Amino acid sequence: MNQPARLAVFLSGNGSNAEAIFNHFKNHSTIKVVLVLSNNPGAVGLERAHKFNIPTRVFTRQQFRESEEVMGWLKDAGVTHVVLAGFLWLVPSNLIETFPQRIINIHPALLPKYGGKGMYGMKVHEAVKNAGETETGITIHEVDERYDQGRILFQGKCPVHSTYTTQQIAEQVQRLEHAHYPRVIERWVNR
Ligand code: GAR
Repeated sequence: MNQPARLAVFLSGNGSNAEAIFNHFKNHSTIKVVLVLSNNPGAVGLERAHKFNIPTRVFTRQQFRESEEVMGWLKDAGVTHVVLAGFLWLVPSNLIETFPQRIINIHPALLPKYGGKGMYGMKVHEAVKNAGETETGITIHEVDERYDQGRILFQGKCPVHSTYTTQQIAEQVQRLEHAHYPRVIERWVNR
């Protein structure tokens, strides 16, 4: 029997990956999403969490980086693993030290290409198109103090035809994300 796990999901925007995760784990016997957190009070992902009756918290940069407040919420909720799903801030070292190898992220490209500070969302797909890449994909990795550089757990690829618009690239990548992220999280938690 696998150990029970309690996930916190951090997001900054739309939260479509978060919703795929909520759906995947809603009736799971050992893994539960217990808290959703965002730096953005207007994040659509928070509304998605409400629909699944998952508690939410919003924080400022000061609360996140210069206090133990967010850490306190995670402890109170008994969080065992942290999932970043379209979360755009760098994770502070106190969080990484509290959850060693227990923070996971998804990136919409084949790292180490098209990663690093400022590389997120559509900017990634524009860079892929402008470089004339013939394939792109997703990377799911553990999180450390550097942007997009932790241990890679999974990569999935899709083709980029020269006629594709940035939007078409984004849609393909998003399909891959939704198909794989929840299952990779499940395997990673149960490793
Ligand atoms: C996703 O494509 C995710 O890979 C990306 O943000 C998007 C969020 O979409 N993350 C990064 O770029 C991290 N560097 P969503 O809010 O609909 O899940």
